[in-house]
Amino acid sequence: MPTTRISAAVRERLLRAARKVMDNAYAPFSNFKVGAAILTSKGQVFVGCNVENSSYGMTNCAERTAIFSAIAKAGPELEIRALAVANAQGVPCSPCGACRQVIYEFGPRAVIFYQGKNGPKQSPITDLLPEGFRLL
Ligand code: THU
Repeated sequence: MPTTRISAAVRERLLRAARKVMDNAYAPFSNFKVGAAILTSKGQVFVGCNVENSSYGMTNCAERTAIFSAIAKAGPELEIRALAVANAQGVPCSPCGACRQVIYEFGPRAVIFYQGKNGPKQSPITDLLPEGFRLL
């Protein structure tokens, strides 16, 4: 499946949106604020931040918040073309395993922009999640 090509301007727009929404994160336990922005096949942008919980395992990552917000707002016909993730500390941070699976469900051709060990990186979701699981 070919991966979507995204222009530098769109990439920067997504990264800016991810950095902005990061300020809304509820992260009193980790103090690690994360923001994510997705671009849909219809050209819409949706954002999300991480929302932690006293019961730590209930934490929702920024990426999943963005995807769930998109579906709540625009319905289940979501196709993710690209997702950008940013964190307030500027440290390497790619989507966690659970988020990779959720991204794959709605964007098997999506490209992911994130901070790698050696600076900004982009990867197809299928590189981050080989053999992703899908029933549909
Ligand atoms: N987190 C995200 O929101 N996205 C990521 O890609 C990595 C981790 C959040 C979850 C938790 O609130 C905090 O970062 C520390 O793990």
